[in-house]
Amino acid sequence: MPRNLNYLWNFGAFAVVSLTLLILSGIFLALNYTPTLADAFSSVETIDRQVASGWLIRSVHMGGVSMLFAALYVHIARSLYYGSYKAPRELVWLTGLGLLLLVMITAFAGYVLPWGQMSYWGATVVVNAVNTVPLVGKPLASWLLGGEGLGNVALHRLFVLHFVTAFSIIGVIVLHVATLHVTGSNNPTGKDLTEPDQTVPFHPYYTTKDGLGLCLFLLVYAALIFFAPDFLTLSDNYVQANPLITPSDITPEWYFAPFYAILRAVPSKLGGLILATGSIVILFALPWLDSSTIRSARFRPWLRVALPLLFLAFLALGLAGMSPPSPFWLWISRAAVAYWYVYFLGLLPMIARREQASRRKEHF
Ligand code: HEM
Repeated sequence: MPRNLNYLWNFGAFAVVSLTLLILSGIFLALNYTPTLADAFSSVETIDRQVASGWLIRSVHMGGVSMLFAALYVHIARSLYYGSYKAPRELVWLTGLGLLLLVMITAFAGYVLPWGQMSYWGATVVVNAVNTVPLVGKPLASWLLGGEGLGNVALHRLFVLHFVTAFSIIGVIVLHVATLHVTGSNNPTGKDLTEPDQTVPFHPYYTTKDGLGLCLFLLVYAALIFFAPDFLTLSDNYVQANPLITPSDITPEWYFAPFYAILRAVPSKLGGLILATGSIVILFALPWLDSSTIRSARFRPWLRVALPLLFLAFLALGLAGMSPPSPFWLWISRAAVAYWYVYFLGLLPMIARREQASRRKEHF
């Protein structure tokens, strides 16, 4: 292992631990959950109120999702800052993005299961967005859901989808880490390590460093579960789903808020869907959009300005997605989503070309 890894390299391990806790708590939840319209909501209430330690298992599961997404967003930001997505680690990056998609699908399906108001109306927003896709949208949605709208069949399928994708994530993590083992880890300088004294064995150096980080991560996780179990949940989801009453404000969970803000920023539903999915799809092309051979932003002054602005745009979209619609947040979202695309399609390739040109000049 490179000897100079900082604490940002802990977040992959945090993701592994939160996923493990999610799967373990999920198995116990599944023992008491009933995937039918009539019983889904009450079976979750029973878990919370009557099953021995059910409240704890459910809290571990719900808090775990937030901890996993938080770990992943930092993990991705670290990879962006230090250029870990660049050659020779393209496959690590691509399998990572596969993981992100699987985690998102799993979280979406899981959120519908308690069959609260937000479960139902959040899923309805997504179904309506899919319905807008010309030609295939409607037939695809009704084929996947087993009928028009969300009913018993859809809930049952989402339950199956939830744990099938959850388990398949384990397989993709194996791939992700295996591809990383081929190239070895990047490091904060982004430079390839050539000397033996630039590396140290994983054990005891990184087992202890990851261990310390994990203690802090688990402290935050525990604080969330024991002191603020409802801090990140929405009270509307403790009201059973009612297709006849739309909540005054449909708000997604915080980790989906940036994408929801993009959906809302565009007047056309289809346009919103394209921009929201495109914001992730574009990341698959990243290793080839950024042609600079310098990896770490430490040595890329222009990137050190442009990239924090990208992080800011993501945060702004998150805040916009969690706020009630207003002209202020609408224009913030539009500016942020515009910057997202300008960064990946314009600024980054341009900065990379400039850097390559000045490197060639230095060379001659
Ligand atoms: C469940 C999800 C994920 C898990 C469990 C996971 C786990 C890990 C672990 C354990 C490492 C090595 C330690 C570290 O560098 O932090 C790693 C490295 C890496 N991951 Fe992930 N990861 C996940 C998702 C992602 C995503 C979504 C991306 C990017 C889109 C990503 C990109 C990377 C990259 C580029 C590296 C190499 C970093 C370097 O060496 O600098 N991972 N991952």
